[in-house]
Amino acid sequence: MKRLFILLIIAVTLTNCDFQNSNKTELFKAQQVFKEDERPIGQQDVIELRCEPIDTVRMAIIGLGMRGSGAVYRYNFIEGAKIVALCDVVPENVEKAQNALLDADKPKADVYTDSLGWQAICERDDIDLIYICTHWDLHTPIAVYAMEHGKHVATEVPAALTIDECWQLVNTAEKTQQHCMQLENCNYDFFEMATLNMAQKGLFGEIVHGEGAYIHDLRWLNFMEEGGYWNMWRLRHLEKEDGNTYPTHGFGPICHIMNIHRGDKMDYLVSVSGNQFGMTAYAKEKFGEESDYAKTEYAKGDINTTIVKTNKGKTIMIQHDVTSPRPYSRIHMVSGTKGFAQKWPRKGIALEPNAHSFLSDEEMEKLLVEYEHPITKEVGKKAKEVGGHGGMDFIMDYRLIYCLRNGLPLDQDVYDAAEWSAIIELSQISVKNQGMPVKVPDFTRGAWNKVNTVTYFTK
Ligand SMILES: NC(=O)c1ccc[n+]([C@@H]2O[C@H](COP(=O)([O-])OP(=O)(O)OC[C@H]3O[C@@H](n4cnc5c(N)ncnc54)[C@H](O)[C@@H]3O)[C@@H](O)[C@H]2O)c1
Repeated sequence: MKRLFILLIIAVTLTNCDFQNSNKTELFKAQQVFKEDERPIGQQDVIELRCEPIDTVRMAIIGLGMRGSGAVYRYNFIEGAKIVALCDVVPENVEKAQNALLDADKPKADVYTDSLGWQAICERDDIDLIYICTHWDLHTPIAVYAMEHGKHVATEVPAALTIDECWQLVNTAEKTQQHCMQLENCNYDFFEMATLNMAQKGLFGEIVHGEGAYIHDLRWLNFMEEGGYWNMWRLRHLEKEDGNTYPTHGFGPICHIMNIHRGDKMDYLVSVSGNQFGMTAYAKEKFGEESDYAKTEYAKGDINTTIVKTNKGKTIMIQHDVTSPRPYSRIHMVSGTKGFAQKWPRKGIALEPNAHSFLSDEEMEKLLVEYEHPITKEVGKKAKEVGGHGGMDFIMDYRLIYCLRNGLPLDQDVYDAAEWSAIIELSQISVKNQGMPVKVPDFTRGAWNKVNTVTYFTK
């Protein structure tokens, strides 16, 4: 009897162990982890990469739609930059860009209208920088080809669409030791730069949480009938993909403030999307219930929310919504142990010991003057005159050329490009799996602790 009792206890204990183990296995399985290959022998990281100074930066602009044409205009005002080649598959876009150069008394550029014109451009040996403003699918292919042909790269956002593309950028930049910067202009907006300065000077104490977003009603831009994007490229993404398909505008400034891969790194994320309502409602109203647009099944849920946890235990929330009728917002919220700042929906700063309410507008403006970032102090006035999203586009272009001319590390490196773009596929996987945690790859392969703060270098 006693033996039977002991056997029973052993059996129950083993069953419990099994149950606990199987629970653990379940938990372990419920996290997607991407395989990270070792850095190939001889390949170096490119943290704070410095390259030979370039006196006159000879550049090619590829993609001359809404964004690329704006870049051509802005570069007319940037000393030390020379546009030598222009490329787009729409000949009128190339012609308009060429005329913009001539109107500004700049030399004529060589023009390319073939769909593979970008390859011919990258193969030239008289170009230093390839500036990519096409639709998303070409960003990584052009960037990789350009670096392989000894060119520095600046690419519109997002730099990559998949984790595989992120690794292609990182590996090519490390292998070739060329710069690869994502053109995240929102990092250079005035409030974002001031809050970066405030954070680096300790005004908010230890930053424990940040929020960013891309909330922008772009419904009309998707349709050819309303004069939108070339070949309706953005609509194709809404048809195919859920998750956060455009994370970098809200995320980039927060990542710099929170020193991502400069002392901290992203650990994992979870992501949830609501269903799709907005595009169908819009398409029905604009094109009729029976139109193809109204009958299309759009994969993209209206509102996506992603939360990242960092290695140091901090959190970042990012939202994406481009199909709802609502006011624009990138949120830009920073919350620390001593203070708080946010830009949307209401610009405000709150500081200890009275952080339960915002500073008055006068007090905030005074603080923003006191903590204005040295870079916006230097070029802010000119940036506002030239324009481009209120000046931030000009500051970004100015900084890119300034750093290349002075052989300085760029403000945004290839790891920023990979990390901020990686949210796309990582969020898509999490969304497909009911918000399952997904591990964020360490694109620096262990070099995330090499420096401990973000630096925008000056001479
Ligand atoms: N940073 C920002 O604030 C911001 C704002 C708007 C757009 N963007 C980004 O800029 C990029 C371009 O957006 P857009 O609004 O100018 O779109 P767009 O559709 O107006 O322009 C894309 C251009 O690429 C050209 N193109 C297509 N195939 C090509 C090829 N093989 N070679 C050369 N050119 C080719 C098209 O003809 C078109 O002129 C996108 O990645 C977008 O996400 C960034």
